Amino acid sequence: MPETALLLDADPQFLADVLSGLRGPRRAIPARWFYDERGSELFDEITRLPEYYPTRTETSLLENCRDEFAAHISQGSAVIEFGAGSATKTPLLLEAINPAIYVPIDISGDYLRSSASTLQSRFPDLNILPVEADFTQPMALPENIEAMDLVGFFPGSTIGNFVPRSGVDLLRHMRGILGEGAKLVIGFDRIKSEDILIPAYDDAAGVTAAFNLNLLHRINRELDGDIPVDAFLHEIRWNDQEARIEMHLRCGRDVRFMVAGFEYSMCQGDAIHTENSHKYDLRSLRMLLRSGCWTSIAEYSDPQNWFTVVLAEATPIQTAP
Ligand code: AVI
Repeated sequence: MPETALLLDADPQFLADVLSGLRGPRRAIPARWFYDERGSELFDEITRLPEYYPTRTETSLLENCRDEFAAHISQGSAVIEFGAGSATKTPLLLEAINPAIYVPIDISGDYLRSSASTLQSRFPDLNILPVEADFTQPMALPENIEAMDLVGFFPGSTIGNFVPRSGVDLLRHMRGILGEGAKLVIGFDRIKSEDILIPAYDDAAGVTAAFNLNLLHRINRELDGDIPVDAFLHEIRWNDQEARIEMHLRCGRDVRFMVAGFEYSMCQGDAIHTENSHKYDLRSLRMLLRSGCWTSIAEYSDPQNWFTVVLAEATPIQTAP
């Protein structure tokens, strides 16, 4: 098949991010491109790994703070989930606060529709209004919900995949969408020992390595690439200065390859930075929320302080200092 015919189906933003991201010396590709069908399956597998503590820790926190949520959030509200994906933690919040409307927002329409229909059979009286959109971009909520009590839901510590400046932009964007009086339930992964953090991102079964390397397979599949994937190694670093886990793809030998008709070369030891996963202490997460126009009103942490679920409310807009 001619190259142009193949690239007609490519996402133009993916193409632009990869073409510019592969140019040295600081090669980097945004982590959002991990999540094609295979990448989403691998991420689901990651969440079940014994080393990957965030999912099970957050799930048990959500199970244990149902009564507190019920006390803070009025029944009959509308829950808006940002990046709903497979929506596995959603039932815990829905059972706790009994909303009238659930609005899952996700960029992947197929994923969105299948998880919405699974939820509908479990909550037959809930009005589910899926929105297929990139939640980081300007978007409108379904018309009839703006007058309701709105509750944003952003679990999984996905906020940690944004550098602080973009995380603040995203929180402000959510504040803008949800408006005055809104609440937000958001998960934060906590700073902890490297002995726990590194294996969580470099598991013994190699699932996270496959997730990282799938980005190169995706480039080959969708952008007419011939990257020799076997030349790359999954690498995890704890960056203490930035309080984050970093994922990289390090080149084990000198390589030359093509992507979308452009030639690239990398030397042994060169790397592509593929993900940041920031970790927080209580002060830094409160500061991030405050910068994003949210105020933490309740915090729920596990006994080891590995993960914190925060209930925040939209900070009122003030003109005074
Ligand atoms: C989606 N996100 C919160 C995960 C994380 O822990 O940063 C993505 C992930 N990357 C490798 N393992 C999990």
